[in-house]
Amino acid sequence: MKYLAKTDPKIYKLIQAERKRQEQTLMMIPSENIVSLAVQEAVGSCLGNKYAEGYPKKRYYQGQEVVDQVELLAQERAKKLFKVEYVNVQPYSGSPANLAVYFALVKPKEKIMGLSLSAGGHLTHGANLNASSVFFTSVSYGVTKTGYIDYDQLEDLALKERPKVIVAGTTAYPRLLDWKRFAEIAEKSGSYLMADISHIAGLIVGGVYPSPVEYADIITSTTHKTLRGPRGAIIMVTKKGLLKDPQLDKKIDKAIIPGLQGGPHLNAIAGIATALKEASKKSFAQYAKQIIVNAKQLEVKLKEFGFNLVTGGTDSHLLLVDLRNFNLLGNTAAELLEKVNIVVNRNAVPFDPNPPFYPSGIRLGTPGITSRGMKKPEMSVIAEIIFNVIVLGSKLKNELKINDAQERITGQRSKIIKQAEASLRKYRQKVLDLCRKFPIPKSY
Ligand SMILES: Cc1ncc(COP(=O)(O)O)c(C=O)c1O
Repeated sequence: MKYLAKTDPKIYKLIQAERKRQEQTLMMIPSENIVSLAVQEAVGSCLGNKYAEGYPKKRYYQGQEVVDQVELLAQERAKKLFKVEYVNVQPYSGSPANLAVYFALVKPKEKIMGLSLSAGGHLTHGANLNASSVFFTSVSYGVTKTGYIDYDQLEDLALKERPKVIVAGTTAYPRLLDWKRFAEIAEKSGSYLMADISHIAGLIVGGVYPSPVEYADIITSTTHKTLRGPRGAIIMVTKKGLLKDPQLDKKIDKAIIPGLQGGPHLNAIAGIATALKEASKKSFAQYAKQIIVNAKQLEVKLKEFGFNLVTGGTDSHLLLVDLRNFNLLGNTAAELLEKVNIVVNRNAVPFDPNPPFYPSGIRLGTPGITSRGMKKPEMSVIAEIIFNVIVLGSKLKNELKINDAQERITGQRSKIIKQAEASLRKYRQKVLDLCRKFPIPKSY
């Protein structure tokens, strides 16, 4: 980064500071991951200089002979890896990818149906204020008291509402999705089935999570989560989708450009191609397996420590911890954990009595720490640190006589954190030791 250091020392220093932060913290936000330097080099390359509106061999500008090959390579690799008929690699990110599918298939005000945000769905699955509910009519399904998707309710609702698209996909849901059941319901209600595999794409490629290819018509995915690529997204059309609607691929292409986007980010597309190459290696399948082994170990240990996990555990890379029995808000827990260099996000739990900004839970994930090579023994250490930190927070909240309403005030939470600081030091040191032992990888 010698040129950046000279041209823009402020940005250079900020990047160095962020690198240090990543080196010294446990990345446990389930949607984050650590890409290789190869992927970073592709993303930082001269490909970003090129305008390439359109598709390979059908562009609006000249000078496309090289970038056409980049895009075709990314498409080919994605098709092979996911075993689909067609891929569009141009979406700028997951949200525009989902919007593109709706734009392709649903007329304004017609219905789409997804898992509600409060039950673990994504904003783009029809949440309030999101374009998916402003321009389309959103109908949401939910989960049962156990936290599992309520397929019976989903079926009743689909038959009643007849949405154009049913979205099968999640952001904060620890269990496997029943693709077959989704497909049966979509068949009955005459809906397209769109699987949003953003969170689990790497697990599917690694063979440790069932693929929706046989069941869905369209599949969207971000490329920067378990797939361990750069920020971006892909839209895939399956054989089933093309049989149902032979124009589906063309509709998706048109929805991306001219529908929603202009020039594709060829530098990101090159990074996606490189990440897909990495994901096709045997070592990636081992990585995917280890993500789940690690999540399962966290499950076992956290339960031993008395934590309540939504659905009782996990089948994937993430866990949703309901902190109500520890009498601590997700905010306080996440802020305390950050003090010991464990980075997580606060999250609503199903039927959360608290509002979304002050939810009752935290969401934990293993993709980032597994990329660093951590295994079961490290998960046990991490679970114990999480337990100790949360018990301490809970005890201090009690001692400082901070009630639930007061806990929502930043100044009140700061009192807990300040009081905890001295005791947290030893846990922070343990985390730093782990980070030193498992440095950020340069390649995979
Ligand atoms: C299931 C799902 N779909 C879509 C997205 C949106 O991706 P992006 O943040 O890249 O727009 C996310 C991001 O968290 C997600 O979890």
